[in-house]
Amino acid sequence: MSDSNWIDLVAVSDLEPGDVTPAQHKGQPLAVYDGPEGIHVTSARCSHGGASLVDGYFDGFIIECPLHQGCFDIRDGRACGKPATRAIKVFECRTLEGMVQIKG
Ligand code: FES
Repeated sequence: MSDSNWIDLVAVSDLEPGDVTPAQHKGQPLAVYDGPEGIHVTSARCSHGGASLVDGYFDGFIIECPLHQGCFDIRDGRACGKPATRAIKVFECRTLEGMVQIKG
């Protein structure tokens, strides 16, 4: 049973409170949210048409896609506003020694 590894993603000091910061993991664009109840990490690609959610409107736990205004809950990735219907991937994350980490 191998334990999952934690991977450094971005420095906590690079995050802007209340905003979304872009990151990369294995060539995949990720979105790091510094929200009201801490940090969340999701895929940055909208499941509807692939737009970058990093450029979306972030409020509370909701990210609104900048292209067609589909919405996602960043806590579980579920689509919560049309035209988005499929969830986006959510990554387990934590902060350690000033870094945001995701579980690999
Ligand atoms: Fe995001 Fe269409 S690309 S809602």
